[in-house]
Amino acid sequence: MTLPQLEDLPTLAGRRVLLRADFNVPLDDGAITDDLRIRAALPTIEWLLEAGASVTACSHLGRPKGKPDPKYSMEPVRARLAELAPGVELLENLRFDPGETADDPAFVARLVEGHDAYVNDAFGAAHRAHASVVGPPRILPSAAGRLLAKEVEVLGGLRESPTSPFTAILGGAKVSDKLAVIKALLDVVDTLVIGGGMCFTFLAAQGHGVGDSLCETDQVDTCEDLLKAAGDRIRLPHDLVVLGPGDEVRQVGVEVDDGWKGLDIGPGSAAEFSDVVAEAATVLWNGPMGLFEDERFAAGTRAVAEAVAAAGGFTVVGGGDSAAAIASFGLAEQIDHLSTGGGASLELLEQGDLPGLAALRAAAAREGGSH
Ligand code: 3PG
Ligand code: MG
Repeated sequence: MTLPQLEDLPTLAGRRVLLRADFNVPLDDGAITDDLRIRAALPTIEWLLEAGASVTACSHLGRPKGKPDPKYSMEPVRARLAELAPGVELLENLRFDPGETADDPAFVARLVEGHDAYVNDAFGAAHRAHASVVGPPRILPSAAGRLLAKEVEVLGGLRESPTSPFTAILGGAKVSDKLAVIKALLDVVDTLVIGGGMCFTFLAAQGHGVGDSLCETDQVDTCEDLLKAAGDRIRLPHDLVVLGPGDEVRQVGVEVDDGWKGLDIGPGSAAEFSDVVAEAATVLWNGPMGLFEDERFAAGTRAVAEAVAAAGGFTVVGGGDSAAAIASFGLAEQIDHLSTGGGASLELLEQGDLPGLAALRAAAAREGGSH
């Protein structure tokens, strides 16, 4: 069943709408370093205001432990939101209350009080069964905002009907975080490129020395099974950039000596991965190829980012780190769909559904049944 849309809500003129957004933006010393998640909610906010509603927005920011913490105050978000969407009210960080993560009914009751409808546009938090995500749809007429609807259409579409050849590029530090999505993607992709810290567990599974690189020894057997099942559909780097004694940086093949640590894919692998991306009709990228925040280990991630930006195929980038990489290289405009979700985009690819989506569908079924 599809998600209820803004148009499905009862008349909003003169009504108050509670909007759950994901304004969990990166902060540096209290300053927002990327306001994508705020800008991404604007189409929904503008639609609601044009419909005559007044809007109360709410979000979490960071992971405060159920009590107020000045470090995670919504103030920087409130200031930016006031510039982008004057007149929209913003509640304090939802996670300042332990009721948020606990989905406490009393907290839900306080959130919905005084509101006539609920809109969820917080795709990045839709995998959390938290009060503000799953609670209001139990009580108010509810709908998906434009961003949430678009994310689900695009990422759900990758699972259901991707145009082939479909290439996925996965990176990031931990293979254990990505095993479920690797398995799900192997059902639909033609090629799965693996780089970043997680490639070393796969390289270890192939019998290579990984030196002091990140390697999850308890996942080596699983990676070996995945390699067997996927055959040559999984592509691993064949050269690397490594850091060793005395801060020396070298390019090596696929063997890493003890005392050395792989921190980026090498130029040969970057070129090969870029070619695979160029040939694809559909591209999904999640996770950097190396420690790109350090210029010495940024080349692999930059090459992949540039290849994805230049690709003729339909391109989707998900996950906070790859989105940040794309933004830092100034390539965001060249991506067909830059997802605002990290964990949420992975879970949607894995499972095809999320708690926040199920809650909206349940609300629609209830409301539909009531007239
Ligand atoms: C995110 O940044 O991925 C979302 O805002 C969810 O945040 P969380 O992982 O702290 O729930
Ligand atoms: Mg394109």
